[in-house]
Amino acid sequence: MKEEGITMAVLRQLTKDIIWVGGSDRRLALFENLFPLTDGVTYNSFLIKDEKTALIDTVDAAIAREFWDNIKAALDGRGLDYLVINHMEPDHCDQIDTLLRLYPGLTLVGNAKTFQLITQFYGDGLLTNTLPVKEGSTLSLGAHTLQFLMAPMVHWPEVMFTYEQTTGTLFSADAFGTFGGFTGALFCDEDDYRELYLDESRRYYTNIVGKYGAQVQRALAKAAKLTINQVCPLHGPVLRGEDLKLMLDKYSLWSSYTPEERGVLIAYGSMYGNTEQAAHRLAARLSEQGVKPIRLFDVSKTHVSHIVAQAFRLSHWVFAAPTYNLGLYAPMEALLRDLAALNLQNRDVALIANGSWAPAAGEVMTELVSRMKDMRLHPDILDIHSALTPVQENQLNALADAIAGSLTTP
Ligand code: FEO
Repeated sequence: MKEEGITMAVLRQLTKDIIWVGGSDRRLALFENLFPLTDGVTYNSFLIKDEKTALIDTVDAAIAREFWDNIKAALDGRGLDYLVINHMEPDHCDQIDTLLRLYPGLTLVGNAKTFQLITQFYGDGLLTNTLPVKEGSTLSLGAHTLQFLMAPMVHWPEVMFTYEQTTGTLFSADAFGTFGGFTGALFCDEDDYRELYLDESRRYYTNIVGKYGAQVQRALAKAAKLTINQVCPLHGPVLRGEDLKLMLDKYSLWSSYTPEERGVLIAYGSMYGNTEQAAHRLAARLSEQGVKPIRLFDVSKTHVSHIVAQAFRLSHWVFAAPTYNLGLYAPMEALLRDLAALNLQNRDVALIANGSWAPAAGEVMTELVSRMKDMRLHPDILDIHSALTPVQENQLNALADAIAGSLTTP
């Protein structure tokens, strides 16, 4: 199908025969209607042109126009033989039905769970021409051969990776993805990946895939047996070279719930500033002792996804919050439940609780932290009754000493 007229196509060449046909949505405020974005997100899709043509994943509905301009320009009049579906979350599979209408001979490539999810989302009318694959299956396109690796729960149960053997390219679904829109650079090393993406890559992984560390480790172990020159995630730049090594190291830490650094996360909730004052004083005492990094957040102000990312990064946590409704201040409860849901484990934790009457925050925080695996809870909760007293300032100093001491003794 040769298209005439104006095209808005923005293509990047991954290799001689593999073309990036994705796009970027900078208007999206909340990814998954949950996670705030400051600089949008990319949706990657790649076209392989060989004796047969194959598209690896599609994109979100929000960028359909760019996607179609890109596909048509990249195919340049050729048809489309295969669509490989590595992930069936709608930010990547929205365009399947349109593809099938435009290219009726198209074969959908996926595993049994892929096809189940297609039926769940779109009914069974799309499954007329399918190629089921499983672990180790291959598909020859001519000079290029695709090999399929199952990666269940590297976000969803149907997820698979596709490895292109000739170029050593791993299409890694959500793994190694990041928030952040297209900067013009397709490859990480065409710009400064660390500066542009490392923090957002951490926030993306920890909040979206963080719960499934064991499954991520299994998928990484499979991938480690391959010769990989470049990794193409569904979101963000293509990784290779030093940045790929960096991210493999980060994924090894994140997926095993190992802190990246010895440092302190302090998250506090405060209605009138008294609990905040305790958190600030603790942070100041720690800093005076040379502790760094310290990351301090007001749970009512900072979106929980940023605090979760720093919780994965740092070895020591301090939570400070008041009692509310005879329980725990709601934003702090939400944070602790989120950390537990994400399976976070193996940290040193201290608590500061405030309660003017019927105090309960300390008890609830202790209970929520105790549900997480391998938490080393500081034995003494600093219990404030409205505002810090001079005696409690000494206790706060002692807590700072204990945390600083424990940071230097792994
Ligand atoms: Fe980017 Fe799990 O979808």
